[in-house]
Amino acid sequence: MKFEESRRLRELPPYLFAEIDRIIRKKRSRGIDVISLGIGDPDIPTPEGIVRKLQKAAENPENHRYPSSYGLDYFKEAVAEYYMKRFKIKLDPETEIISLIGAKEGIANISYVFIDEGDYALIPDPSYPVYSIGTVFAGGRIYSMPLKEENNYLIDLDGIDKKIARKAKLMHINYPNNPTSAVCSSDFFEIIVSFAEKNNIIVCHDNAYADTYFGSSKPCSFLNADGAKDVGIEFYSLSKTFNMTGWRIGCAVGNKEIISSLGKYKTNVDSGVFNAIQYAAAEAFKNYEKYSRNNNIIYKKRRDMTASILDNIGIDYYTSNATIYIWAKVPEGYTSRSFAELVLNKADVVVTPGSSYGKQGEGYFRISLTIEDARLEEALKRIKDSL
Ligand code: MLT
Repeated sequence: MKFEESRRLRELPPYLFAEIDRIIRKKRSRGIDVISLGIGDPDIPTPEGIVRKLQKAAENPENHRYPSSYGLDYFKEAVAEYYMKRFKIKLDPETEIISLIGAKEGIANISYVFIDEGDYALIPDPSYPVYSIGTVFAGGRIYSMPLKEENNYLIDLDGIDKKIARKAKLMHINYPNNPTSAVCSSDFFEIIVSFAEKNNIIVCHDNAYADTYFGSSKPCSFLNADGAKDVGIEFYSLSKTFNMTGWRIGCAVGNKEIISSLGKYKTNVDSGVFNAIQYAAAEAFKNYEKYSRNNNIIYKKRRDMTASILDNIGIDYYTSNATIYIWAKVPEGYTSRSFAELVLNKADVVVTPGSSYGKQGEGYFRISLTIEDARLEEALKRIKDSL
């Protein structure tokens, strides 16, 4: 029998981090000590209080049945409490919040909710691959919005083709930004809101790195911009803030019609998040300062160490006070790919080639700080020796 994948799946390249994982496994199976600075997957354990909450909730048979696709009230109330304390934003748990099986799930699925065959989505370049993947799966077309270092990786809205802007259905944005680590102010989000209102575009803001910052100024929420709730939603992930990548839990918050449509879609394709995980996530939200403080101390130390070693090697990088990534320029004479291959082959170190995040990422590579200090230092030393 011949199994033919759908055209949409055939046309997609392998998922970036699945491909990197395949290369790492192959090397490790040959006994090679590979150090991965690839995926942003925190090495720090989930805080104990959150794990205890899961254990307790998992013992309760009431939690063993189907959850609601929209999320437990208790979970959504904790999200609302967090948004109020952290961003001073009032959310109605009933209509303006929905649970997700990780932010990635919501980001991929939002395209099915609003994109019809041939519709445009405006997507930053470089960016987290799932914005484009979701668009392509839903039959949509990608219109790239270049992020340039000279603009501090902010989107240049004047550069967007006006005819496309009028036709576009969705816009994906993400600050603090993956992969560049750039941050933006709520003033910038206000400019996005006016653009979206003018062109009737739904804005989807990915705020996965909101609580990973090192300076005194905290990243804001898209919903801090006046009018944001009229045009869009925000995805929040517990993965990076609370070291919960494996738990698969996040949420979408904001415009109630968009949330309701996403819920309508989700009730048809998934059955929500295990209730015990939602109780544990609520514990995280209710005590977010206590549970995230330690991470930022650790990442700052790693960021400073990496910056000083890169300075020493003579590799340029973008300076930012947020995210778990360093966005660096490949040394002269290399492309993103040839540099990633060099360090993989000569140093057994994995970095992510910037070109995997879009054309504009060419000439860059990304380092993830989610590895213990000594291994990070060793990896950077190996990169230095390989040049
Ligand atoms: C990344 O490394 O870009 C992220 O960890 C991937 C993800 O969040 O799915």
